[in-house]
Amino acid sequence: MRISVTILQYDHGIVRQVLDVVGELVRTHRAPQHIPELQEAVAFLEQFLDRFHHAKEELFLFPAAADECPKIAGTLDHLKKEHAEAHGTIGTILKAIKADDVETMETEIRKLVDLMTVHISEEENQVFPIIENELQLETDATIHAQYERFTVKEFGKDYYQAAEEFANDIQERLLGPGYFKGIA
Ligand SMILES: [Fe+2]
Ligand SMILES: [Fe+2]
Repeated sequence: MRISVTILQYDHGIVRQVLDVVGELVRTHRAPQHIPELQEAVAFLEQFLDRFHHAKEELFLFPAAADECPKIAGTLDHLKKEHAEAHGTIGTILKAIKADDVETMETEIRKLVDLMTVHISEEENQVFPIIENELQLETDATIHAQYERFTVKEFGKDYYQAAEEFANDIQERLLGPGYFKGIA
């Protein structure tokens, strides 16, 4: 086990939960009735996914992994390009919401959900197993300490608690409690 990977997998759970909620709302054509909540959800993703999760990958794990697991260096570059793409798409969604452009908002939300679903699967299935095997334990501990410092300094020590609460709350408000339990 590598704690530096486990923490990112945990982040993915929170990201997926919020993406599932916004994706489901668009899929079932209910987005126009819930613009303020969608704005909140996408603003959350702008912070938690773009400025928190992707930043931890790019600043700490990926550079160390490129060094110690060189066979995935090319894949890490491609994942970073997808982070930039997600950053752009999130910005476009927020702009579309402000401009009351529901069609663009829906198209770009679908794009973000599709992009991140594939991206997260690639990290979890192809990249993280190699890092788990090859990253030095000492490096793992260093990255963990870097994550902790970055989190507390930039987001506050209770950030995870707030993020989890937000994900559960937005799911409950938009879809009702236990919405995804019957779907598998
Ligand atoms: Fe990523
Ligand atoms: Fe990730």
